[in-house]
Amino acid sequence: MNVKKIINLSIMTASIIAGSYLHANAQDSTQKSSPGDLVNALHSAFGKHEARAVHAKGIIFEGTFVPNKDAAKITKAAHLQSQSSKVLLRFSDFTGIPNIPDNNPAANPRGLGIKFIMPDNTTTDIISHSFNGFPTATSDEFRELLMAIAGSGPDAAKPTALDKFLATHPIAKTFLTTQHITSSFATINYYGVNSFKFTNKKGASHFIRYQFITEAGEKYITPEESEKENADYLFAEIKKRIAQGPVKFKLYAQVAEDGDKIEDPSIAWPDSRTRVLLGEIMLTKLTDNTTEEDKKFVLNPGNIPGGIEMADPMLELRAKAYPISVKERQ
Ligand code: HEM
Repeated sequence: MNVKKIINLSIMTASIIAGSYLHANAQDSTQKSSPGDLVNALHSAFGKHEARAVHAKGIIFEGTFVPNKDAAKITKAAHLQSQSSKVLLRFSDFTGIPNIPDNNPAANPRGLGIKFIMPDNTTTDIISHSFNGFPTATSDEFRELLMAIAGSGPDAAKPTALDKFLATHPIAKTFLTTQHITSSFATINYYGVNSFKFTNKKGASHFIRYQFITEAGEKYITPEESEKENADYLFAEIKKRIAQGPVKFKLYAQVAEDGDKIEDPSIAWPDSRTRVLLGEIMLTKLTDNTTEEDKKFVLNPGNIPGGIEMADPMLELRAKAYPISVKERQ
């Protein structure tokens, strides 16, 4: 199947997901903000550019995913059994600014969004970023952070709304001030952050979080080195890298233990937790990366098969917010 067909199929899937969520009205009742409020807050923080509300600058690759035999022990999800899938994977910079320089500190964390296309053409997506955690515990707090960013432009009086937010939200401060600056999209790890529930064929369940671990090894640069890089250094580097050979990541499920918070993405689970190798991603080809193709490439964290369920309430909101941005940018 060619890339165009896959992308059209993904738009169909996104509409189905959006539709079923709207009908189910499965909004997280603990949160005041609606999915639309969050998308508007992203626009307030980063501007409205007829692009993704966030992670607007990106690049798409094609490749394969080969599941590892241990994956089927923890989930019955179709793409994690024995058959390989095709994948489309989009690396991206943070913010909704489509031409953000790669060496702007606000371009961190980087994003990794992946669509698995199974032999029967059904798809499932994972959307992750290059930091093991999220700045806030809830969607409401994330909206507050975005609105604080929006109110803290160069002309804002000091202390700015963002200064005040960070003074009372140490986790958000750590998130914004301790990002690794990578030398390549291929030399940093990516984390799913929100928790899912995996159920296997015997009915046994585990809570998990995804981790994409680079096979090229982590390679970071200093802020001073980053300043000397050009505005598209990551995009130029990854094009050169893929021309020389495949880009590979191992996909793991980090498994929660009793007491680990399932519903709070701002707190990473300890590194000592068991990680189950789900499989290997091998990117082999840059796609055409036309504007049209990027517009039509649609991911949704709620696009999940049987054997996987959303466990963190933030996912319910995300699953409804992404289609709003998709509709705006088509
Ligand atoms: C309440 C929390 C969140 C909200 C409201 C939100 C909202 C959005 C929206 C509206 C988009 C644009 C969708 C599109 O136009 O296709 C998006 C894209 C994205 N988000 Fe989130 N997001 C949230 C949390 C997260 C988290 C926790 C991660 C990472 C673990 C993440 C990573 C990404 C990435 C990588 C993309 C770009 C996907 C692509 O390449 O198409 N987001 N997000």
